[in-house]
Amino acid sequence: MKQLELTPRLALLASWVSEGARLADIGTDHAYLPVWLMLAGRLRAAIASDLRAGPLDRARATGKTWGVADRIDFRLGPGLDTVAPEEADTVVIAGMGGETIAAILAAAPWTADGKHRLLLQPMTRAWELRTFLADNGYAITREALVRDRGTLYPVMEAGAGKMTLSLGQLHGGAGLTRDPLGDRYLIEQIVRLEMAVAGLNRGTGEKSRARADETRDVITALLAMREEWRHAQCR
Ligand SMILES: C[S@@+](CC[C@H](N)C(=O)[O-])C[C@H]1O[C@@H](n2cnc3c(N)ncnc32)[C@H](O)[C@@H]1O
Repeated sequence: MKQLELTPRLALLASWVSEGARLADIGTDHAYLPVWLMLAGRLRAAIASDLRAGPLDRARATGKTWGVADRIDFRLGPGLDTVAPEEADTVVIAGMGGETIAAILAAAPWTADGKHRLLLQPMTRAWELRTFLADNGYAITREALVRDRGTLYPVMEAGAGKMTLSLGQLHGGAGLTRDPLGDRYLIEQIVRLEMAVAGLNRGTGEKSRARADETRDVITALLAMREEWRHAQCR
């Protein structure tokens, strides 16, 4: 049988899962990540959980196809409601918006108990997730970028801790100064925000003006980060 191949995004996440982990993959959909890790002999236990029955059926089907369905616990329900804290030491929440990942963590405060390693991969609104983590007793211990089908995605490792992030870091990444894709990521954020400012400038109200000013502050912070990134590359 052919080997199960992960996309670059899932492959990076897989490479960050420690040998012998007890994994909970939240929003698992096809369960490619837990199935791949189980086939590689890297997991002691795995929970594959999803909010919806359709994705969970797909997850079970992947497990059956690859002969590991009986070694993975498939669970249906929202976020981490399906997992007891002592069942997992590694929690992956990937492939969702940053605000959804933040809401899932907010509903499971035990994820900040210092006993869990969180591997988080927001598809959009990463800054909302970084803000939530900084404000709620988590620290990002590692962050990297991965390019998947032409799009750049941040991947974060987080756990209990304290961190203060600058405006630039909230939007441009917590530790991407040395990432080879860091400059590209900053440019993408700047372009997106410039477009937002152009939209806000078309508005006439006080609110639009205030949001345009805030957004310009973020752009300025990101431009400064680009300078930092350049210096870090020269060292
Ligand atoms: C795009 S898929 C991501 C699949 C996989 N994690 C990945 O990164 O490729 C998003 C999945 O998250 C599930 N999902 C969305 N919100 C959720 C929540 N609050 N709790 C659990 N699963 C959720 C969806 O049903 C869907 O299957």
